[in-house]
Amino acid sequence: KQVGVLISGSGTNLQALIDSTQNANIGAEIVLVISNKDNVEGLRRAERAGIATKVISHKNYPNREEFDNVLHNELISAGVEIVCLAGFMRILTGEFTSKWKGKLINIHPALLPLFKGTHAQKQALEAGVRVSGCTVHFVEEAVDGGHIITQEAVPIELNDTEETLTERIKTAEHKAYPRALEWVAKGKVRIGEDNKLVWKSLK
Ligand code: GRF
Repeated sequence: KQVGVLISGSGTNLQALIDSTQNANIGAEIVLVISNKDNVEGLRRAERAGIATKVISHKNYPNREEFDNVLHNELISAGVEIVCLAGFMRILTGEFTSKWKGKLINIHPALLPLFKGTHAQKQALEAGVRVSGCTVHFVEEAVDGGHIITQEAVPIELNDTEETLTERIKTAEHKAYPRALEWVAKGKVRIGEDNKLVWKSLK
């Protein structure tokens, strides 16, 4: 399957996806990386891997609808079949998420449905939970909602700061995201007609 990745920053998850798509047979190939910010490390990671990149600044569009339309058209012209959000810091419109329903996935740095939104690691520390982690899920219009594909848990240590917890969660993310992409690309998990998750064992 041809994959497009949307980023806004450092792109360590993008790197994990690049490595797994290039070095293992996960049934997916990244054909385009789009960033809404220029000059970010994620774009350099894509360039080093020989993947086409595009910067589409949301600032050049009057509203989300127009920005999302441009994103959609770029993805379609590149032949993208699955879209991965990897630290993409823009909220997508319902129109966009419904066009890509079942083909659009995101990674979130907490065990959803807990700690949605920004600063999920700080939310976990403040709540005093002793375990957190990451979640890869299908994207729906509701932010950080949508069916869960896979999760990876990490312990919270007594002396953790937002930074140390973020680092530990990222290590988990780099395992979870390629696994989830493989499952979606190979059809092990999909959204069925009735909007329920359908699982199939892979031979
Ligand atoms: C990750 O923690 C991800 O869960 C969140 O944004 C961060 C992106 O990090 N959605 P990176 O750019 O992949 O390093």
